[in-house]
Amino acid sequence: MEEQNQHQHGHDHGHGQQHWNERYASAPRLFNAEPDETLVELADHLPPGRAIDLGAGEGRNALWLARKKWHVTAVDLSDIALARLAAEAAEAGLDVDTVAGDIVEYLGRGDRYDLVVLAFIQWMPEERTRLLSAASAAVAPGGHLFLIGHHIASLGKGGPPQPERLYTEESLNDSFPGLKLLRLDRQERAAGDIGVPMVDIVVWAERSTTN
Ligand SMILES: C[S@@+](CC[C@H](N)C(=O)[O-])C[C@H]1O[C@@H](n2cnc3c(N)ncnc32)[C@H](O)[C@@H]1O
Repeated sequence: MEEQNQHQHGHDHGHGQQHWNERYASAPRLFNAEPDETLVELADHLPPGRAIDLGAGEGRNALWLARKKWHVTAVDLSDIALARLAAEAAEAGLDVDTVAGDIVEYLGRGDRYDLVVLAFIQWMPEERTRLLSAASAAVAPGGHLFLIGHHIASLGKGGPPQPERLYTEESLNDSFPGLKLLRLDRQERAAGDIGVPMVDIVVWAERSTTN
């Protein structure tokens, strides 16, 4: 994804609330404001329901979903990012529930959603496996999960510098228990953090209506 200012690396778990708050405090806006194009393409035709944006940041995707009449919960460690999201929601007359806290902990409540969104959450493999498993469990029958993130092919061009934090198709094949993968592929994005084409991983998965 593109950051508005000079970017630093280190997206993840491991870095806690203070790390993320410092990053957000360093700029009036850290990440771009437009919703993810692929999310728009995939979710535009869905009937609105309950959605959760995990690691929502300043809320570009949560706000788009709220505009499309979804009932959105936005979870993030950073209260600074969530305050920006809430201010934009209030200005636009939108209702988004914000939760300041850890996403895995929040998923532990066991609530289910018609759409689960993970955008540019670049964790280390072990923690990522736990996160994706919990995120999959949070998809309601007939619901969908959307994941977009930096692909390994973007190493050195944008996203975190540690290769383990970047996504590969193989590493994601078995990461969504109980869900059917409708899409697991890579796609190019015109300009990344440093103005060169980037490669993203895209996952679109669904839970059948009967489980
Ligand atoms: C790269 S930003 C992506 C923001 C947003 N998804 C987007 O695409 O614009 C990653 C976000 O994940 C949040 N985050 C990282 N670890 C988290 C955790 N354990 N629980 C909740 N949020 C977390 C950070 O605070 C940050 O806002």
